[in-house]
Amino acid sequence: MKKRPIGIFDSGVGGLTVFKEIRKKYPFEDIVYFGDTARVPYGPKSMNTVIQYSIQNARFLMQLGAKIIVIACNTSSAVALQKLKDILPVPVVGVIEPGVKSAIKSSKNSRIGIIGTEGTIRSKAYSKAIFRLNKKAEVYSKACPLLVPLAEEGWEDHPVTKITIKEYLNPILQKKIDTLVLGCTHYPILKQPIQQIVGSNIKLVDSAEAIGEQLEDILPFPETSRAGEDHFYVSDNEEKFGMIASRILNKKIETLVKVNLGESWYIS
Ligand code: DGL
Repeated sequence: MKKRPIGIFDSGVGGLTVFKEIRKKYPFEDIVYFGDTARVPYGPKSMNTVIQYSIQNARFLMQLGAKIIVIACNTSSAVALQKLKDILPVPVVGVIEPGVKSAIKSSKNSRIGIIGTEGTIRSKAYSKAIFRLNKKAEVYSKACPLLVPLAEEGWEDHPVTKITIKEYLNPILQKKIDTLVLGCTHYPILKQPIQQIVGSNIKLVDSAEAIGEQLEDILPFPETSRAGEDHFYVSDNEEKFGMIASRILNKKIETLVKVNLGESWYIS
């Protein structure tokens, strides 16, 4: 790679939904992606642990020369964005704010649903960000942890997935929301069954798409027409990552390397 790349990290494979949108938007940029497959899932872990992992992940991408860090993981974005902004010498963007802006723009009745991991929902990062922009909004949140393994299993059309989505979403749907934020990297993979269950009157906000749009404000398009390179790194299970990745990206991943982040960057 001759240019400084865009650095993206996630707890695992789900962040490829964000990678896909950014790659679409920036075909000429080099991108380095790190999936922390050794320590996934982040959703049920404590805030401090997720912050420590996020720092290590971002520092690894900085070592690869990243000129901007994109936190694809909603759980990391919810708890570690400010910390990373404070300690890194490059711009850091998370997925919460773009998703929130897009939800507020889309909602007519200001009744917004949020679904995400336990960590994301517990942090209240989405609801706080919504209230900052619209004090009158009503926000209904629900952690949907089972949707992550269902998406990884490729069960988009499976009846178990539909039943699970219904079970999680029923209480929120009764609140007459008109917009639902898919606040987890994996949920865009299940967009179709989710839309089927909530009906066409509810707008789904895909935070992966939203971040692609918002990056334009920070990252100008490069003056080159050389196709950008992709480099993928994981901390474990490269075969499984490669398999799921080719399903999400509709192509085989060429450069996939397993790395060991070690403990050297651990800070207290
Ligand atoms: N990447 C995580 C997120 O978007 C979902 C998977 C996990 O729990 O690590 O919150």
